[in-house]
Amino acid sequence: MNQGSVSKTSFGVMPDGRSADIYILKNSSGMEVKISNYGGTIVSWTAPNRQGQWEDVVLGCDSLAGYLRGTPYFGAIIGRYGNRIAKGKFKIADREFSLAVNNIGNHLHGGLVGFDKVLWEASIAKDDSLPRLRLSYLSKDGEEGYPGNLKVEVVYTLKNDNALQIDYLATTDKPTVVNLTNHSYFNLTGGIKRDILGHELMLNANRFLPVDSTLIPIGNYEAVANTPFDFLKPTAIGARIADSSNIQIKFGLGYDHCWVLNAGSGADLPLAATLYEPESGRFMQVFTSEPGIQFYSGNFLDGTVRGKGGHVYAYREGLCLETQHYPDSPNQLAFPSTQLRPGETYKSTTVYQFSAK
Ligand code: GLA
Repeated sequence: MNQGSVSKTSFGVMPDGRSADIYILKNSSGMEVKISNYGGTIVSWTAPNRQGQWEDVVLGCDSLAGYLRGTPYFGAIIGRYGNRIAKGKFKIADREFSLAVNNIGNHLHGGLVGFDKVLWEASIAKDDSLPRLRLSYLSKDGEEGYPGNLKVEVVYTLKNDNALQIDYLATTDKPTVVNLTNHSYFNLTGGIKRDILGHELMLNANRFLPVDSTLIPIGNYEAVANTPFDFLKPTAIGARIADSSNIQIKFGLGYDHCWVLNAGSGADLPLAATLYEPESGRFMQVFTSEPGIQFYSGNFLDGTVRGKGGHVYAYREGLCLETQHYPDSPNQLAFPSTQLRPGETYKSTTVYQFSAK
């Protein structure tokens, strides 16, 4: 039986002369995911519509040069800390650490050269017959201001049921903070036929984290009931996104918030979100071991980034569902901890699974 394959081709040359590759994972059903070891970036990802037509459902660039010119984290692995840390400062045992302030006075997505902009060591795992790419990176003590040598491993596994599993692992030699995620921008129309406002989203969360005007959580959990943040039942993203009577929609310029996922039951990875595009019939489920999910509705896409096939990505032509611990956890001790100590292993798993209906 055809169990799929992994092949490798060149993606381009880094400014320092090292070359980056692209790995093509194919499963036995026809799904193809292209991942570069530059930033661990998912460059393209095909999924079937209800007629069985496979089309690309993520934003990205055709070559390394496009990513080097700069993108808003298209498809990349985010670290050491996905999302924001207030004022770029946090303490561990009374020692203060200072990070780059790269987002309206706060630290965002790991700093100036986060895990999205480094070259990862890649190996094609041979431990079973599924297409699998293992990426590793050593983030040195002090890199971007974070303490401890952090050894990170991210494993992408493409299953035959059209699920891409992402396993994140990390260890450290000094206490530090870690919050890893993937920053894929989805558009399930296939090949970006229109914006994402007609996509129907379900978020398995009774609460979300209200933020201040710089998108740092205030600290309390707010019920989604009777607000534009209630996605317990699948709802079109565009239905309430312009409700400027809601201060949180105003601060987020739309949706750019972390939802507090309802606890799962049983041994399986809990379902965090579903996304459905009515015209194509494409359906995506997101399962995760993480306690939160940042839903970002592409509010900063502004027609300045040219991507695959020359397409210029316009306002809200992609959306992100970033599984993670809560923003600013290093400073908000009531939130689940993002500290990692020597001897411990950070583990996180997220699965994105496609079908059509
Ligand atoms: C995250 C943030 C957004 C934005 C994007 C990248 O999702 O929450 O505010 O910075 O990344 O543009």
